[in-house]
Amino acid sequence: AADKVEITVDAQKPGPVINKNVYGQFAEHLGAGIYGGLWVGTDSKIPNTRGWRNDVVGALKSLKVPLVRWPGGCFADEYHWREGIGPRDQRPVKVNTNWGGVEESNAVGTHEFFDLAEMLGADTYINGNLGTGSPQEMAEWLEYMTGESKSTLAEMRRKNGRDKPFKVDYFTIGNEAWGCGGNMTPEHYTNLYKQTAAFLKTPKHNTPKLIASGGTTGHEEWTEYLSANVKPEWSLRMDAISFHFYTLPTNDWKVKGLATGFPEKEWISTFKQTLRMDGFVADAKKTLDKNDPEKKVGFYVDEWGTWYDVEPGTNSGFLYQQNSLRDALVAATNFNIFHKYADRVHMTNIAQMVNVLQAMILTKDDKMILTPTYYAFDLYKPFQDATSLPTNITHNTTYTLGDVSVPGVNASAARGKDGKVYVALVNTNPKEAVEVTVNVAGTKVSGAKGRVLTSQLMDAHNTFEKPDAIKPAPFSASAKDGKLSVKLPAKSVVVVAAE
Ligand code: AHR
Repeated sequence: AADKVEITVDAQKPGPVINKNVYGQFAEHLGAGIYGGLWVGTDSKIPNTRGWRNDVVGALKSLKVPLVRWPGGCFADEYHWREGIGPRDQRPVKVNTNWGGVEESNAVGTHEFFDLAEMLGADTYINGNLGTGSPQEMAEWLEYMTGESKSTLAEMRRKNGRDKPFKVDYFTIGNEAWGCGGNMTPEHYTNLYKQTAAFLKTPKHNTPKLIASGGTTGHEEWTEYLSANVKPEWSLRMDAISFHFYTLPTNDWKVKGLATGFPEKEWISTFKQTLRMDGFVADAKKTLDKNDPEKKVGFYVDEWGTWYDVEPGTNSGFLYQQNSLRDALVAATNFNIFHKYADRVHMTNIAQMVNVLQAMILTKDDKMILTPTYYAFDLYKPFQDATSLPTNITHNTTYTLGDVSVPGVNASAARGKDGKVYVALVNTNPKEAVEVTVNVAGTKVSGAKGRVLTSQLMDAHNTFEKPDAIKPAPFSASAKDGKLSVKLPAKSVVVVAAE
């Protein structure tokens, strides 16, 4: 029989606001992430608005996507913005050397990206090219996007159809500089960062937050090095340091594990792996609290998510994978971690939005399916810009298989913008339901209502033949002695609003 779990939420001690951009997305020129999945072009039979698929854009709008990062990834360090402006039929065709060696038409460039972001009502995050680019090229791109004068670059933007400057909310200098971005040491990158940052100038009211591209697993020292050596002063800004962490069931890049049809051994190891995120963020927070006690520098996990072996028969460079209930629980587990560190983690970007890695949406020709990960983001919408509430699991269960164990339940809570207390719960145990008592200290609770995502199968997923095989269902919890009493199904994620 399942043990009981006890959680205390302190509604009287509000913590930092959970920046909506913690729910950010990432769209790279990779596989069908943009071409086919989002962009079909204006001549396509697939219904579109100025080239962007109506079905996919509609679904993303419903998800309230708060921010999109573009154009990469590794792609960003070979991207030259001038090749993606002007008449589309005259743009140079390149080879996407990182992802499958396919032709890159440059049909989606700066204007198209901002059109998408504006349709979604999303903030924009541009990844600059430090690899094959230069401070000059990045500075000129920013001038092109934000210039208000009659400078040649601002006039060029107008000639290309955009009078009003684009709003650039975030800009990062390079990507994965320790690897595909140039195999640099933190010392080398930090010098280049400082040099470049000095020249990225924009009008005052359109100044993007400037991000230093940081480390990953095995390169955690980048956070320490950057925060110790970049001390913001008048010409040197650093609003955040980024970090990448991917969840591989096997923790082995050669054989990562399958997206569906996996054994329970890989279910539990996936959670074991993904829970490492807590340690990475906790360590970064410690480092930043030491080097930046005034909390000027954020820690942005601008790539995270599951990374499996590609689906059989697909181009290995396209990173196309199915997405199951397990992915939804991975997403929710990470949200619960990010909420805990809301004071430093102001933005994250799941990799990636459509058809690539842990995607929200998969497309095939004119068809589209929403993945369990889409539904996890959907369930957590009330947490965007909510105020985090200290959440303490005072008694938890342990889920064990063989010699691997993980905490049975993970959770977080926040006061939504509507004033309600929202509680999110994940049961990682695929076989046993658990009773969870939530004591919302400071609030009288008479019950809770919300939604659950669960299934009989660990790898429940939607297909083009069965697009609704898994989707959220209504869920409610009762109250006992003023405390919530939640019957949390096996392998489930639940988000409820206390009443
Ligand atoms: O998201 C896929 C790739 O993973 C990105 O291009 C790169 O930054 C990371 O290695």
